[in-house]
Amino acid sequence: MKKMMIVGLTLVAGLSLAACSSEQSSQNELEKIKEKGTIVVATSPDYAPFEFQTLVDGKNKIVGADILLAKKFADELGVKLEVSPMNFDNVLNSVQSGKADIAIAGLSYSEDRAKVFDFTNVYNSADNVLLVKSDTVNDYAKNADLASKKLAVQKGTIQEVYANENLTDSSVISLTVLGEAINELKNGKVDAILLDAAVAEGYAAQNPDLAVSTMTFEEAQNDGKVVAMPKDSPELKEALDKIIKEVVDAGAYDSYLEEVSKYTVVE
Ligand code: ARG
Repeated sequence: MKKMMIVGLTLVAGLSLAACSSEQSSQNELEKIKEKGTIVVATSPDYAPFEFQTLVDGKNKIVGADILLAKKFADELGVKLEVSPMNFDNVLNSVQSGKADIAIAGLSYSEDRAKVFDFTNVYNSADNVLLVKSDTVNDYAKNADLASKKLAVQKGTIQEVYANENLTDSSVISLTVLGEAINELKNGKVDAILLDAAVAEGYAAQNPDLAVSTMTFEEAQNDGKVVAMPKDSPELKEALDKIIKEVVDAGAYDSYLEEVSKYTVVE
């Protein structure tokens, strides 16, 4: 009798727990954002022109083409935008843990990441290049030229994964903030940085002592820049993809890139 009661109670407890959790998860990611009235966007503002800090009226402000895209999302969904800055190696974690709703951080699509996250369709291309000192730019044409060189990559990036897998003859140095890597390159502590083309070109344009090598990384190329969401967010993905389609069809992301070129980067 006693045993039966315990079994019965456990069953009831189990059932009500199940009811509770299904009630909590009955709201999809899109509905959650709309109900909160805010979309929290994780980013790492050390990647001009995508996201970076500038000074506006003496105060640091996060700007960039990705931030304009985030604003477009917020406007179209009818919610407020909250930009949550952090180091790049925390950006995806914060989506996974639910601290942020989405991540927009110059993120490249990768199959490994797609096992853990949902991604929108591509909103911009993503090519990897090597940034070096101008006076060494002709030394780099193929992977073998990086042998025994010190190569910096940003922690948590696909460039880090690529370098660790494919450039095993180089000494790969992972740095948390991209600005650190730039400083190390400028003062000769590293020989090269592997990073996204648009970012490298920006640094080369601003710093006569830096240049982008002609070296290409075919195997490291990927399908482009995407926005990350928690796994299994079909409604959110549909809503964001619709906005991305409008943005891409209108060439608006290119206008965003153009628009933010007026800001000076502060590290
Ligand atoms: N595209 C690379 C990746 O997805 C690097 C992105 C770095 N982004 C940044 N905001 N620092 O891994």
